[in-house]
Amino acid sequence: MGKSVTVTAPGKVNLVLDITGRQPDGYHILDSVMQSISLSDTITVSCMDGRGIYSSCDQPRIPCDENNLVYKATRAFLDYFFLDPGCAISIDLQKRLPIEAGLGGGSTDAAAVLIALNVLLNVYTGLDTLCKIGEKVGADVPFCILGGTRRITDSGSTMHQMPPMPYCYLLIAKPEAGISTPQAFARYDALTSPARADTTPLLHGLYAADLKQICSGMHNVLEPVADVEDVFALKKMILAGGALGAVMSGSGSAVVGVFENRDLAKRCMRRTFSLAKSAFLCTPVSHGAIITK
Ligand code: C5P
Repeated sequence: MGKSVTVTAPGKVNLVLDITGRQPDGYHILDSVMQSISLSDTITVSCMDGRGIYSSCDQPRIPCDENNLVYKATRAFLDYFFLDPGCAISIDLQKRLPIEAGLGGGSTDAAAVLIALNVLLNVYTGLDTLCKIGEKVGADVPFCILGGTRRITDSGSTMHQMPPMPYCYLLIAKPEAGISTPQAFARYDALTSPARADTTPLLHGLYAADLKQICSGMHNVLEPVADVEDVFALKKMILAGGALGAVMSGSGSAVVGVFENRDLAKRCMRRTFSLAKSAFLCTPVSHGAIITK
């Protein structure tokens, strides 16, 4: 076994998500605040004897081929620097973030691989360059590299650091059915009068460190086009369980509820298992993908 680097890759939630237009490349222009969460994947990247890129995952449903974002991130990193690593790159994924959930699972794994390769191959380029490489791999990859609390004002590469979210507990519940991101955007485009969200109340809440105001500003314009009934049932259940606010994250299908009280959040989480395939209690974190070993 050669050198290896292990990275913690936090997921994200969208506290607010508005769509303000379309880019020439077809991607949607967002006005969204993303928040990193303590629920994370663990990725180990190693340099082994031989050549090529190999990946393995503890979840059989996740493809470990060239369609996986970790493979695309490795290729993008090596191509950007015209690098021959002189070894086989082996990537081991331990998944905790559910897929097709809107929690940035694939993007944060790609971000983790870029952070790992930067150190493993002694490149030590800046985070701005890693974000530039990452944006070609997936729209949310730059955010997952930097993490924290950030407002996005295009498809994902223009980010503005916001004041941190006040301490709270996040209950995340994911229905059995997932939602594909391209399909969610396509359904939004098919609407004759698509919904819009006012992001200012949430931004004001962040600047005032006022959790109640943040929660009253949580809104996602992709929520009405979610074709998974349990999204709405879970949101109702989480609000009835005492959350200050609840919203679908990104393109769904996970719902995030914000609680001040941990016991209340735990009690509510137990109830959500009647509808959710998976549910987690986590907290906001102020960092993106970081090396732990
Ligand atoms: O970049 P990523 O792989 O996350 O995006 C998946 C798909 O979601 C894109 O191919 C595009 O159809 C859609 N998308 C979009 N606008 C965004 C982000 C994603 O239309 N801002």
